[in-house]
Amino acid sequence: MALLSILCFPDPKLNQVARPIAAVDARIRTLIADMLETMYDAKGIGLAATQVDMHERLIVIDVSEERDEPLVLINPELVWTSAETHLNEEGCLSVPGVYDGVKRFDAVKVKALDAHGKSQLIEADGLLSVCIQHEMDHLMGKVFVEYLSPLKRNRIKTKMLKVQREDRA
Ligand code: NI
Repeated sequence: MALLSILCFPDPKLNQVARPIAAVDARIRTLIADMLETMYDAKGIGLAATQVDMHERLIVIDVSEERDEPLVLINPELVWTSAETHLNEEGCLSVPGVYDGVKRFDAVKVKALDAHGKSQLIEADGLLSVCIQHEMDHLMGKVFVEYLSPLKRNRIKTKMLKVQREDRA
Protein backbone atom coordinates (compact mmCIF):
# COMPACT_ATOMS: atom_id res chain seq x y z
CA MET A 1 0.00 0.00 0.00
CA ALA A 2 1.06 3.56 -0.56
CA LEU A 3 0.05 7.03 0.47
CA LEU A 4 -1.05 9.07 -2.53
CA SER A 5 -0.68 12.82 -2.82
CA ILE A 6 -3.89 14.83 -2.81
CA LEU A 7 -4.46 17.60 -5.36
CA CYS A 8 -5.25 20.98 -3.86
CA PHE A 9 -7.77 23.56 -5.07
CA PRO A 10 -7.48 25.47 -7.42
CA ASP A 11 -5.47 22.81 -9.32
CA PRO A 12 -7.25 22.55 -12.73
CA LYS A 13 -6.80 18.75 -12.62
CA LEU A 14 -9.60 18.75 -10.01
CA ASN A 15 -11.94 19.92 -12.79
CA GLN A 16 -11.31 16.87 -14.99
CA VAL A 17 -14.32 14.57 -15.50
CA ALA A 18 -13.66 10.93 -14.49
CA ARG A 19 -14.17 7.97 -16.85
CA PRO A 20 -16.21 4.89 -15.91
CA ILE A 21 -14.18 1.88 -14.75
CA ALA A 22 -14.47 -1.01 -17.20
CA ALA A 23 -13.21 -3.80 -14.94
CA VAL A 24 -12.56 -4.11 -11.21
CA ASP A 25 -9.15 -5.73 -11.60
CA ALA A 26 -5.92 -5.92 -9.58
CA ARG A 27 -4.96 -2.37 -10.58
CA ILE A 28 -8.26 -0.99 -9.28
CA ARG A 29 -8.01 -3.06 -6.08
CA THR A 30 -4.56 -1.56 -5.44
CA LEU A 31 -5.93 1.92 -6.10
CA ILE A 32 -8.79 1.28 -3.63
CA ALA A 33 -6.34 0.13 -0.92
CA ASP A 34 -4.10 3.16 -1.51
CA MET A 35 -7.03 5.58 -1.49
CA LEU A 36 -8.38 4.13 1.78
CA GLU A 37 -4.94 4.41 3.37
CA THR A 38 -4.62 7.99 2.10
CA MET A 39 -8.10 8.96 3.36
CA TYR A 40 -7.53 7.49 6.84
CA ASP A 41 -4.07 9.08 7.06
CA ALA A 42 -5.53 12.50 6.15
CA LYS A 43 -8.41 11.98 8.64
CA GLY A 44 -10.98 12.50 5.89
CA ILE A 45 -14.39 10.87 5.63
CA GLY A 46 -14.31 10.56 1.84
CA LEU A 47 -11.93 10.64 -1.10
CA ALA A 48 -12.60 10.58 -4.83
CA ALA A 49 -10.05 9.19 -7.31
CA THR A 50 -10.03 12.62 -9.00
CA GLN A 51 -8.39 14.05 -5.87
CA VAL A 52 -5.39 11.73 -6.26
CA ASP A 53 -5.14 12.57 -9.98
CA MET A 54 -6.71 9.29 -11.13
CA HIS A 55 -9.63 10.28 -13.33
CA GLU A 56 -11.77 7.19 -12.94
CA ARG A 57 -15.19 6.83 -11.29
CA LEU A 58 -14.11 5.54 -7.87
CA ILE A 59 -14.90 6.86 -4.39
CA VAL A 60 -13.95 5.65 -0.92
CA ILE A 61 -15.90 6.76 2.18
CA ASP A 62 -15.93 6.07 5.90
CA VAL A 63 -18.29 8.14 8.06
CA SER A 64 -18.14 5.76 11.06
CA GLU A 65 -16.92 6.93 14.49
CA GLU A 66 -14.51 4.01 14.76
CA ARG A 67 -13.11 4.48 11.23
CA ASP A 68 -13.68 0.81 10.50
CA GLU A 69 -16.55 0.83 7.98
CA PRO A 70 -14.96 1.53 4.59
CA LEU A 71 -17.39 1.97 1.74
CA VAL A 72 -16.22 1.66 -1.87
CA LEU A 73 -18.30 3.05 -4.74
CA ILE A 74 -17.30 2.28 -8.31
CA ASN A 75 -19.21 3.90 -11.19
CA PRO A 76 -21.77 5.42 -8.78
CA GLU A 77 -25.10 6.57 -10.18
CA LEU A 78 -27.77 8.53 -8.30
CA VAL A 79 -31.03 6.64 -8.80
CA TRP A 80 -33.19 8.66 -6.38
CA THR A 81 -32.97 11.94 -4.50
CA SER A 82 -35.27 13.27 -1.77
CA ALA A 83 -37.41 16.33 -2.45
CA GLU A 84 -35.98 17.96 0.68
CA THR A 85 -32.63 19.70 0.67
CA HIS A 86 -30.55 21.06 3.50
CA LEU A 87 -27.63 23.44 3.92
CA ASN A 88 -24.69 21.51 5.41
CA GLU A 89 -21.26 22.69 6.48
CA GLU A 90 -18.68 20.89 4.33
CA GLY A 91 -14.95 20.61 4.14
CA CYS A 92 -12.63 18.85 1.68
CA LEU A 93 -9.16 17.31 1.78
CA SER A 94 -8.41 19.29 -1.41
CA VAL A 95 -9.31 22.59 0.29
CA PRO A 96 -7.69 22.19 3.73
CA GLY A 97 -8.94 24.47 6.49
CA VAL A 98 -11.98 25.75 4.58
CA TYR A 99 -15.54 24.95 5.69
CA ASP A 100 -18.72 26.38 4.23
CA GLY A 101 -22.37 25.63 3.62
CA VAL A 102 -23.59 23.73 0.56
CA LYS A 103 -27.17 22.72 -0.21
CA ARG A 104 -27.57 18.95 -0.67
CA PHE A 105 -30.41 16.45 -0.92
CA ASP A 106 -31.35 15.10 2.53
CA ALA A 107 -31.35 11.53 1.25
CA VAL A 108 -30.16 9.69 -1.86
CA LYS A 109 -30.14 6.20 -3.34
CA VAL A 110 -27.01 5.27 -5.26
CA LYS A 111 -26.26 2.29 -7.43
CA ALA A 112 -22.58 1.36 -7.64
CA LEU A 113 -20.19 -1.57 -7.84
CA ASP A 114 -18.37 -2.57 -4.65
CA ALA A 115 -14.67 -3.49 -4.32
CA HIS A 116 -15.45 -6.98 -5.67
CA GLY A 117 -17.26 -5.65 -8.73
CA LYS A 118 -20.66 -6.60 -7.30
CA SER A 119 -23.62 -4.28 -7.82
CA GLN A 120 -24.92 -2.63 -4.64
CA LEU A 121 -27.74 -0.21 -3.85
CA ILE A 122 -26.95 2.24 -1.06
CA GLU A 123 -29.69 4.20 0.70
CA ALA A 124 -28.11 7.11 2.49
CA ASP A 125 -29.22 9.99 4.64
CA GLY A 126 -27.48 12.35 7.05
CA LEU A 127 -23.70 12.66 6.81
CA LEU A 128 -23.34 9.69 4.45
CA SER A 129 -25.77 11.26 1.98
CA VAL A 130 -23.88 14.56 2.03
CA CYS A 131 -20.54 12.79 1.68
CA ILE A 132 -21.69 10.71 -1.31
CA GLN A 133 -22.98 13.83 -3.10
CA HIS A 134 -19.75 15.72 -2.35
CA GLU A 135 -17.55 12.88 -3.65
CA MET A 136 -19.70 12.30 -6.75
CA ASP A 137 -19.24 15.98 -7.57
CA HIS A 138 -15.46 15.44 -7.53
CA LEU A 139 -15.89 12.77 -10.24
CA MET A 140 -17.68 15.39 -12.34
CA GLY A 141 -14.78 17.80 -11.80
CA LYS A 142 -16.57 19.94 -9.23
CA VAL A 143 -15.12 21.08 -5.90
CA PHE A 144 -17.58 22.20 -3.16
CA VAL A 145 -16.21 25.76 -3.01
CA GLU A 146 -17.38 26.20 -6.62
CA TYR A 147 -20.96 26.38 -5.23
CA LEU A 148 -20.07 29.45 -3.16
CA SER A 149 -20.38 33.05 -4.34
CA PRO A 150 -17.64 34.26 -6.74
CA LEU A 151 -16.44 36.61 -4.01
CA LYS A 152 -16.00 33.82 -1.44
CA ARG A 153 -14.53 31.47 -4.02
CA ASN A 154 -11.92 33.99 -5.10
CA ARG A 155 -11.02 34.71 -1.50
CA ILE A 156 -10.49 30.96 -0.92
CA LYS A 157 -8.48 30.67 -4.15
CA THR A 158 -6.16 33.49 -3.09
CA LYS A 159 -5.74 31.98 0.37
CA MET A 160 -4.98 28.49 -1.04
CA LEU A 161 -2.45 29.81 -3.56
CA LYS A 162 -0.72 31.75 -0.78
CA VAL A 163 -0.54 28.66 1.46
CA GLN A 164 0.79 26.56 -1.45
CA ARG A 165 3.46 29.19 -2.22
CA GLU A 166 4.55 29.24 1.41
CA ASP A 167 4.68 25.42 1.49
CA ARG A 168 7.01 25.41 -1.50
CA ALA A 169 9.26 28.12 -0.08
NI1 NI B 1 -13.75 16.81 -1.29
